[in-house]
This record gives sequence, structure tokens and C-alpha cells, in this order.
Amino acid sequence: MRITVIGTGYLGATHAACMAELGFEVLGLDIDPLRVESLSEGLLPFHEPGLPELLRKHVKSGRLRFTTSYEEVGAWGDVHFIGVGTPQRAGEGAADMTFVDAATISLARNITKNALIVGKSTVPVGTTRRLKALVRDNKRPDVSVNLAWNPEFLREGFAVVDTLTPDRLVIGVESPEDELTLREVYARALGRDVPLIVTDFETAELVKVAANAFLATKISFINAFSEITEVIGGDIGTLADAIGLDARIGRRFLNAGIGFGGGCLPKDIRALQARAAELGLERSMRFLDEMDEINLRRRERAVDLSRVMLGSLSHSKIAILGVAFKPNSDDVRDSPALDIANSLFEEGAEVTVYDPAGNVNASKRSPQHHYVTSMEDAVKSADLILVLTEWDEFKALTPEGLAAQTETRKIIDGRNILQTRVWEDSGWSLAALGHRYPPEHATEEPLGEQLQLSSGPAA
Ligand code: UGA
Repeated sequence: MRITVIGTGYLGATHAACMAELGFEVLGLDIDPLRVESLSEGLLPFHEPGLPELLRKHVKSGRLRFTTSYEEVGAWGDVHFIGVGTPQRAGEGAADMTFVDAATISLARNITKNALIVGKSTVPVGTTRRLKALVRDNKRPDVSVNLAWNPEFLREGFAVVDTLTPDRLVIGVESPEDELTLREVYARALGRDVPLIVTDFETAELVKVAANAFLATKISFINAFSEITEVIGGDIGTLADAIGLDARIGRRFLNAGIGFGGGCLPKDIRALQARAAELGLERSMRFLDEMDEINLRRRERAVDLSRVMLGSLSHSKIAILGVAFKPNSDDVRDSPALDIANSLFEEGAEVTVYDPAGNVNASKRSPQHHYVTSMEDAVKSADLILVLTEWDEFKALTPEGLAAQTETRKIIDGRNILQTRVWEDSGWSLAALGHRYPPEHATEEPLGEQLQLSSGPAA
């Protein structure tokens, strides 16, 4: 069985390399010739642990090739996976389906032998049925081309592991033959008892968006409680631990902080609301609007805290540790950390950024900041330090170690990775998201005098 993968971003490049690892011959297609060139040389244009090794291994073995030619792909492949992007449409919440539609049409026009097209991109419910009509109208009359949907649940930073050993496989199919084909593709995982859900197109599409909506809701849920503990006191981490021990709730994705970002959760909850509205069901997904709002308020909170700790942001020097949307990634798409850095800059702060992997991507989007290649360079002349991505390097920070590199003793923990009391006992003023600031034990002020949310820029 020959496999092709259309689109070689995070999803496509990972899927292609992993299919080769499973023993298939794989041809990846991208419309960007530069990307095809670099992948063909075994060079990955983004940071993903374990993937460069897999890519090089299979480019070298000849099992994995890349092309820009739909003609080549259509004549060669038996199963064609579509993994192109579905970004948020400019100025709207809905997903931009241009790339998925274009890939499907180009593929259908060029397929010269019976084949199965399998969608993997995250799409609005109803897409597979719509694409089926596009395929029917564009394919050659003498070939049979079926469609299936097989959502992908990989996490950046764990893309290879998640693809080779997924926690479940979901396939939306219309015929038992297509199910058999996909069972063959995923035989290794199925042999290891990975659960397989065989369903219709709509359910398969919805599983993906529902999972991401649930994860986003979980994060915003705990962050909504952060807004309460920040005013009345209490420990947000202990609250998460305690409710997380209820097996029905679970502790994962209850880490309070500056909230979710990246190329998936934010755009997926907006696209889901837009799709529901198209279906006349605006109210069903309206709660996601609130989740989005809670999430974005966390970023404002980090800026408010910075302003309060410094008195004024104007002419202040701020060090940002971590700008990727999460650790083990160089992705800064909708990164809460970069958003916070930009807001601080807009209020007059001079911002210096250090991220172990995200500097290059961040500097393309926000060239106004200084980017440095070590933590020491970032903090040395800072008035305030913000830890915004939980890289191991920052988790390992100690009050003494950091104090040796800088004069300031002011720090904001945007990810709840530093032990508040330990830092305070060492003479630091530490503000953590989800915690009262100034801390309860440091002030006798009545509640009304405590820092309130979103105080806005000082007049
Ligand atoms: C997410 C989903 O987790 C994957 O299952 C899905 O396949 C993927 O989107 C996708 O749709 O392609 P990813 O975007 O890689 O994966 O990142 P996550 O690990 O989900 O983290 C998302 C954001 O939430 C990050 O900014 C992270 O810092 C934040 N987060 C996560 C929290 O603020 N608190 C938590 O407890 C967990």
C-alpha cells in the first residue's frame, strides 16, 4: 500500500514520517517548493522532538519522499491523507477552508487509479460530505475515489509519540472496504489494543472539535477560579489537585496560568461557534465565547500585575522568559506570552525575550523586542521578570540562582511553576497567576484595597 500525505506542516510532516516508520512507502506533497526541498534533505523547518531523526532515517532509506506534483501523487498513491491547515479566517471566527478544498480538488483531478482520500485536518462538521461532492465533480470518470475522515489528536512537542501510539483512533467511513483499508494502515497500533472508533463522517469530524473545546473549557474553568482566588485568597494549585482527584474530573489540563494559545485550541473554539451559528445553533456553543474571554483576560491580568509591581510600565525594563505557546515547541501562534510581551511594549516597556526555541519565530512576528540567547542576558538589567512558558530550564529556577544574575527581586510566575513562599522567604516579590497579590500574609489591607482585575493602563 502506497501512502501520500498532502500538506507537510506539523500534522502532515509528522504523519508522513510516522507512516514510513510503520513500513509504508510514503510520498509527501507540499505546494511550497522550499519546504519540499528542505524536507527532501532531511531538514525539518520547525521544532519537534524526535521528528528530525525519523525524517532523516526514512529520507535516507528511500521510503519517504517529497514532491510538489499532484500529478505524481495522483498516479502513485493508494491512500491519500489530507493534512493541510484550516486557519482562522481573517477578521472572523470561522475556519478558512481554502487549503482543504484546493487540495481535495487538485488531488481528485489527478488521481488515475482507484484510491481512498482520508481527511485529517480539523474541519467544521459537514465538510466530508461537502468534499465528497467536490471529488465526484472533479475525478476522472474511470476511477473510483472514496472519502474517509480520520481526525488527528497529536500534541505539539509529543507529535511522534502521539502518532505512533495514539490513545484512540477515530475513523468516519461509508463502506466496510474503506474501514478495512484504514485498519491495514493502522494495523500496528490496533495490534497493541489502541481503541478504534468506527463511525460516520459527522461524528468523526465532531470528535476532534469537541475534544479541543473540552480541553479549552477545562483550562478556562480553572482560570475562572483563579479570578476568585486572586481576590479572596486560597491556593489555585491545591484546588486543582483536590478536584482533580475525583476520577470523573481528572487533574490534567487544570493548570492555572496565562491560559491557552497555539495554532489549535483558540481557533478551534471560534470555528466551532461559527459553524454552530451557521447551523442556526448559536446558543449551543455560546459558552465557548465565555471560555475565550476568560482565557484572554488572563493575559490582561499578567499585564496588570506588571504595572502594579513596577508602578508604571513606561521606560521599564522587562525580561520575558518563555515566548513559545508551550514548552518543547518553537510555535508562537496565538502565544499568550508573546501577546503579553506586545502589550507591555505598547505601554512603554522595553522588553527582552529569551526562549530556548521560540525566539526566531517570535522575532518575525514581533521584531520590536530584544531577543537574546541566554536567560542571563535577558534578566541582567531587568526591573521585572515574567516567566511565561514552563520550559524545564525555568522550572529549575531558584531564588538564589536568579538573584546572582540580576539586581531585581520582582518576578511574575505566569505558569505556577515556582514555589511562592520559597521565593518570598528569599526576599523576592513574586506574583503568580491565580494567587492574591500582594499575598495575604504580606498585607493587612481589606479586600477592597487589593489589586482588582483589569485596572487598565495608568492614567
Ligand atoms: C491541542 C490538543 O491538546 C491536541 O490533542 C490536538 O490534537 C491539537 O491541539 C490539535 O488540534 O492539533 P496543542 O495545541 O499542541 O494540542 O497544545 P496543548 O498541549 O493542548 O496546549 C494548548 C495550550 O493550553 C498551551 O498554550 C498550554 O500552555 C495551555 N495549557 C494546557 C494550560 O494553560 N493549562 C493546562 O493545564 C494545559
